[in-house]
Amino acid sequence: MCGIVGYIGTRTASEILLEGLRKLEYRGYDSAGIATVLEGQIHCVRAKGKLHNLQEKLAGENNPAQIGIGHTRWATHGKPEEYNAHPHMDTACRIAVVQNGIIENYRELREDLKARGHEFRSDTDTEVIPHLIAECLKEIRHQEPGASSSEPGLTVDSFPDPARTPKVNPPYPSPLSSHSPLLEAVRQAVTQLQGAFAIAVISADYPDELIVARQQAPLVLGFGQGEFYCASDTPALVPYTRAVLPLDNGELARLTPLGVEVYSFEGQRLKKAPRTLNWNPVMVEKQGFKHFMMKEIYEQPGVVRACLEAYFDSEWDSSNPTQSPVQLNLPESLYTDLQRIQVVACGTSWHAGLVGKYLLEQLAGIPTQVQYASEFRYSPAPLTPHTLTIGVTQSGETADTLAALEMELQRRSQQPPEFQAHLLGITNRPESSLGNLVPHIIDTHAGIEIGVAATKTFVAQLMAFYALAIDLAFRRQSVSVDQLAKMLDGLRQLPAEIEMILESQERYIEELAHDFAETQDFIFLGRGINFPIALEGALKLKEISYIHAEGYPAGEMKHGPIALLDAKVPVVTIAMPGTVFEKVLSNAQEARARDARLIGVTPMDEQEAADTFDTLIPVPHVDELLSPIVTVIPLQLLSYHIAARRGLDVDQPRNLAKSVTVE
Ligand code: F6R
Repeated sequence: MCGIVGYIGTRTASEILLEGLRKLEYRGYDSAGIATVLEGQIHCVRAKGKLHNLQEKLAGENNPAQIGIGHTRWATHGKPEEYNAHPHMDTACRIAVVQNGIIENYRELREDLKARGHEFRSDTDTEVIPHLIAECLKEIRHQEPGASSSEPGLTVDSFPDPARTPKVNPPYPSPLSSHSPLLEAVRQAVTQLQGAFAIAVISADYPDELIVARQQAPLVLGFGQGEFYCASDTPALVPYTRAVLPLDNGELARLTPLGVEVYSFEGQRLKKAPRTLNWNPVMVEKQGFKHFMMKEIYEQPGVVRACLEAYFDSEWDSSNPTQSPVQLNLPESLYTDLQRIQVVACGTSWHAGLVGKYLLEQLAGIPTQVQYASEFRYSPAPLTPHTLTIGVTQSGETADTLAALEMELQRRSQQPPEFQAHLLGITNRPESSLGNLVPHIIDTHAGIEIGVAATKTFVAQLMAFYALAIDLAFRRQSVSVDQLAKMLDGLRQLPAEIEMILESQERYIEELAHDFAETQDFIFLGRGINFPIALEGALKLKEISYIHAEGYPAGEMKHGPIALLDAKVPVVTIAMPGTVFEKVLSNAQEARARDARLIGVTPMDEQEAADTFDTLIPVPHVDELLSPIVTVIPLQLLSYHIAARRGLDVDQPRNLAKSVTVE
């Protein structure tokens, strides 16, 4: 949720750190800071609020340091004030640390460290880390042959009680201490931390070392020519390098101007090779759009095309269908005897899962459950045999989704063969923690998404579910080949349909948004496969415009929510011809009879629609099963323009973070 960046090399660190933080600001943005090592001192500058406040503070400084760490914060422990901003330092200000995650045992560690004379200056959990590292470093220096007690900034007198020496495993001395006392101190410190964390550490006493560690929170290393980077997310690295190495849980690394060494928390040296990202720096720029969110909405036709190309066989011949039209490269074992599917996800990805359930059940005939990962991990459904578990997460880093999948792996591992876990991930970030956790991935090919509100990654997740459901339907022969061929044709038309909506509707929706800048409540109605789109429309509006919005299955409205309706509550109704079309229109009439302003997202012609809706947002007429991909587009545009009209920060809405790496 917070953003971490680190640099060591030959260039001016502060410039690289600021640029990296700018790319990570979407992850958290209530305060920011950087620390560098210069002339034997740590130079730390922090500011409350958005990154430009830090930039202003740094303007005019001429700091040539070539090593440093930086952070943008999304507050978990302690208010978003400057004194809580990272980096945090030890008492003597010789060690600086940035952290992403939560240290669960920080209270106990803090009390212990305070009793040893450490002075705390913030309310954060993070601050225990530099103090703990200082403590470990102190001890390591004591073990060194001929060690004196007069290291800079530290005194032995602060630690009079040997019985209170930090409990570490394995005990001192470790082979790493002679190689790098700072690395060993960080290693010993992290083994005492409980929780999820990624950290970057520098020390005034070791100016040529940047130490990083990862436990359940993302951290990626970047490799340049004589310079090395670390970041909590790859967009910070893309302007400098495409050679990256994501650290795994329980790993730490030492970055020096000469190279990178990776170790396990047990102190073993690991051999790891970087991989090449197929991104370019332009992808992380707005390219003329006012906001990333709008750029990403406009990228959706291209994303659908990329998915079509990646998932579907363009040569497939429905008159001679010897093999599936889908090429997901998943092993046969995932399909064999498959009886049930369970999907775990959060937020927008959960909505994609709900559309997926509809497709998997209606096309492939496989009973499918969709669970919020945060609920599933504490109240999982009883185990069923031959079950495929799909984790859906665009970032691949959502803590609850990862924990739910880990729990599923764990609880199935002791079971008979038919209950063994079959895990599949749907993600936009195959290099993420999800990619490391599950054996099989459907890559959603959406390209990096920077706007906090998910748009193109949602559409890409839907494409992944279309591919999976069609593949299963073909293999199980649950749908005729002709029907599948018709669906494939329909899918291939989608990029042009989205383009048509963007071209013909964006301006109109921008004007329409004027009417709703002061609105306080919205209702979104949909049925069947478009019920999740009603939920998604409501979520988009809530998160970026701060307007209260609810999504309902249209038929449920009269069971309660109808009481909310009056002339001040607009009702957006998704009405696509198909199984529930007439029903949805009747439900819409019920709302209109309560004076609500009815907005129809529908392909009905103007004349017809005028009898039902007060306002029409036309969409192309597509097969009902494919319609979510067209109906979601105007809802994204509507929420964007309402938020922009209200003068809000569309890309970085308050209290939100792009990837939710804490529980
Ligand atoms: C909504 C949104 C969030 C995410 C949710 C899950 O626009 O972005 O609701 O969908 O936090 O994130 P991922 O997909 O990264 O697991």
